[in-house]
Amino acid sequence: MPEIRPVDKANWRALIKLDVHEAQKEFVASNLYSIAESQFGFDFEGHWDYLAFGIYDNDTPVGFLMYGLNLAHPARQAFITRLMVDEKFQGQGFGRFGMEKMLEIFRTDARVKEVGISYEPENDVARKLYANCGFAETGAMIGDEVLAVLKLR
Ligand SMILES: CC(C)(COP(=O)(O)OP(=O)(O)OC[C@H]1O[C@@H](n2cnc3c(N)ncnc32)[C@H](O)[C@@H]1OP(=O)(O)O)[C@@H](O)C(=O)NCCC(=O)NCCS
Repeated sequence: MPEIRPVDKANWRALIKLDVHEAQKEFVASNLYSIAESQFGFDFEGHWDYLAFGIYDNDTPVGFLMYGLNLAHPARQAFITRLMVDEKFQGQGFGRFGMEKMLEIFRTDARVKEVGISYEPENDVARKLYANCGFAETGAMIGDEVLAVLKLR
């Protein structure tokens, strides 16, 4: 059974070894970068705490995800900032599992009204996956990425 586990002092070294296909590298930061970023969060329209997790298949690390929370934000209080599945484990449902796990966490928190995500317009696999999870493109861009949102309540 897949599961997600918070990044901690025991597992971060294994998680930074996960990598995507060469052609996908422009779509996602390295896990090393993301784990560094998660130590500090991000300041944009208030402060976003970043929460980072490994995706596991039994005890095998297969992917990584990270989301931001800014419960005081007027529009969207959660933002999915990273999702990757190692090249060796793609196409087996782990990306979808990671998305559903994050949405489950957000759904149980009444303070999260809307969730955001952004992606490169040419990232067809991600675009389709997020649309299947209920995300709708807003027409707005964040830098060179498309912004999509999911209204939870
Ligand atoms: C996007 C990503 C996380 C998806 O993870 P994954 O474990 O391979 O995806 P899943 O096996 O859960 O499949 C999710 C959906 O994508 C489809 N899919 C997966 N790989 C595909 C491929 N190479 N080509 C076409 N469709 C694909 C699946 O059919 C599935 O569709 P469904 O929900 O209609 O059944 C993974 O491809 C990845 O790490 N990509 C590089 C990093 C990246 O782009 N991250 C997102 C940044 S915004």
